[in-house]
Amino acid sequence: MTDTQQLGERAQAMIDALATISADEGKLTRLYLSGEHKRAANLVGEWMRRAGLAVRMDAAATMHGLLPAGRDGPRSGKRLLIGSHIDTVVDAGKYDGNLGVIAGIIAVDELRARGVALPFELEVLAFGDEEGVRYPKTMISSSTIAGTVEANVLELTDAQGMTMRAALAEFGADPSHLTAEAYDPADVIGYLEVHIEQGPVLDQAGEALAVVSAIAGQTRFRASVRGEAGHAGTVPMAIRHDALAGAAEMISLIEAVGRRGAKASLVATVGEIRARPGASNVIPGLVEFSIDVRAADDATRNAAAAEIRQGAQQIAVRRGLVFGMETVHENGVAVAAPRLKRAIAGAITDVTGKTPRELMSGAGHDGQAMTKLTDIGMIFVRSRAGISHSPLEFTSAADMGLAVAALMRTIERIAGENA
Ligand code: GLV
Ligand code: MN
Ligand code: MN
Repeated sequence: MTDTQQLGERAQAMIDALATISADEGKLTRLYLSGEHKRAANLVGEWMRRAGLAVRMDAAATMHGLLPAGRDGPRSGKRLLIGSHIDTVVDAGKYDGNLGVIAGIIAVDELRARGVALPFELEVLAFGDEEGVRYPKTMISSSTIAGTVEANVLELTDAQGMTMRAALAEFGADPSHLTAEAYDPADVIGYLEVHIEQGPVLDQAGEALAVVSAIAGQTRFRASVRGEAGHAGTVPMAIRHDALAGAAEMISLIEAVGRRGAKASLVATVGEIRARPGASNVIPGLVEFSIDVRAADDATRNAAAAEIRQGAQQIAVRRGLVFGMETVHENGVAVAAPRLKRAIAGAITDVTGKTPRELMSGAGHDGQAMTKLTDIGMIFVRSRAGISHSPLEFTSAADMGLAVAALMRTIERIAGENA
């Protein structure tokens, strides 16, 4: 068996082990600060310890595994970070996020076992909140390290009304330390992440790996439409103020705005909706829904958001409704650092013998938060048919092995530059 095959099989076994840790029988759901997150964090911590890393959990429930710099040769006193997330969406695939954490642990373990002496520390990070499914904000974990998290996130509530403060305390993390976890940019060399592509480009091109050029900017809003609840049998159609019918028209507008911007990689999505009071014989009086707008450039995204806000407002006025649209999460386009892109491209060429393409990421990643702290670089791995956020998500063991090998070579190339 070749080295990369062995790496791939090791990654596969770990992916399969993590995938058994779920809130739902027969499908994978692992939300931030849940019991499943705790079990997954414990397993990751155990793997980190076995890989020879010093393990700790921080105030945002991120698992850290640290490998000190080699004893011989010059040392920079700095740290290279490698990370991804172990939370999932509801009924998720098993590779999104999890692969990046596993790839980091295997790569560091292999480099240590091979006696590669690095001039910097390596730290593997297993973030708990990249998907932003449980709380309205996302990337709490990476924002904590990047030093951009604000203490008021602790008061955010989940669908059951549980605050993040209470959930962190129940998890065993210390919410009072959240804003004290920020890293000093002077101590960090950069942030690397391996992630599945979640799109079809590599699969269609027959290529295993790519270099990420940038991550699309993203804004998430919480919209509300207030109308007038009433009897579904007695209130004449002409005098109704139906919040859900108004929201439906707004959702069509949001889709149309997204479709028109396709050339600029603009996408606009309503993924979540709640109607109140929520009975078949009551005209809906209040609707709340999410809006997710992303684009490859910030001006396009901001213009689309403004158009949605204005268009929805006009619909509301025409229907006698009150419309609100609050920003709950915002990240501009995160551009990968040229020096890390070069190291990654060189490493992929070392491993595959081919010059990799560059790909823009439409999906959000922790790198968006980490870019506020340090340079970021990402390796994309082929996703079968580009399917993700679905149990059909699939990446082969062979491709995972190549990704781990490319991560190891990236670290060695960065070490060569920093020696
Ligand atoms: C996370 O996967 C996102 O892109 O929203
Ligand atoms: Mn992800
Ligand atoms: Mn995801």
